[in-house]
Amino acid sequence: MPDHAEYDDIAEEYAASKQLPFRIVVEAPTLFDLAGDVRGLAVLDLPCGDGTYSRAFARRGAGSVVGIDLSSAMVERARSIEREQPLGILYQVGDAANLGAVGAFDLVVACYLFNYAQTRAQLLTFAHTVYANLKPGGRMIGINDNPRTALSRYGDRAAYGFSRTIDLPRREGSRIRYTMPTADGGTFGFDNFWLAPETYEQVFAEAGLEDFRFVDCRAELSPGQDRTFWNDFLRDCPITGLAARRPD
Ligand SMILES: C[S@@+](CC[C@H](N)C(=O)[O-])C[C@H]1O[C@@H](n2cnc3c(N)ncnc32)[C@H](O)[C@@H]1O
Repeated sequence: MPDHAEYDDIAEEYAASKQLPFRIVVEAPTLFDLAGDVRGLAVLDLPCGDGTYSRAFARRGAGSVVGIDLSSAMVERARSIEREQPLGILYQVGDAANLGAVGAFDLVVACYLFNYAQTRAQLLTFAHTVYANLKPGGRMIGINDNPRTALSRYGDRAAYGFSRTIDLPRREGSRIRYTMPTADGGTFGFDNFWLAPETYEQVFAEAGLEDFRFVDCRAELSPGQDRTFWNDFLRDCPITGLAARRPD
């Protein structure tokens, strides 16, 4: 495991970005739709970041929640919130590439994990980890950079609070750069990597997971929010839901 993770340097800024409207209007409702009723389920949140979704699933009645992330700074933020408002969540530092089985879970939540794989082989290690941590019949759900988007959909999305660019030509391992605003008027960024949608489909099947699919995002609008504005975000959306299951 590297002794320094990219998110150690941006833990605070990333945590604040969970308040961006696209996360609340699109990301979270899409994830919770995919999850369905989690009451009583054993949930692994990988990567948990600062625990935003670990806490959400605990509050939605999950039987137990374990959150794991490569970044010790992110895990420390999650633990600190857990100390202040205990929900019984267990947080650990760990690398999804070589985690092995830490338990037998009904649901693995993988929000923005697979887009860190730079190669097919790395994606396969992540998929093996998901499989190893699911009970037979258990489900994997998540949110990801959307590898299906047209090239024209990269670029400045300032209206939605970020920019997303990709190194061209787009090919396996191409770097995707996200830039987001900070509270003090600056910006911060992080990198994802592009792998073809077909690579995802093949790799999850190879890892033994069935019914892998990308799931288009949806928006949950509050009264007064502009439907046209959010429909433009959803069209060939920069983020996608995904789901798979471990066979019985
Ligand atoms: C974009 S954040 C998402 C965090 C959380 N899932 C969320 O939606 O708020 C991506 C996280 O992935 C973590 N990460 C990157 N590579 C990882 C790996 N190999 N194993 C575990 N966590 C990893 C980073 O440290 C970072 O916290």
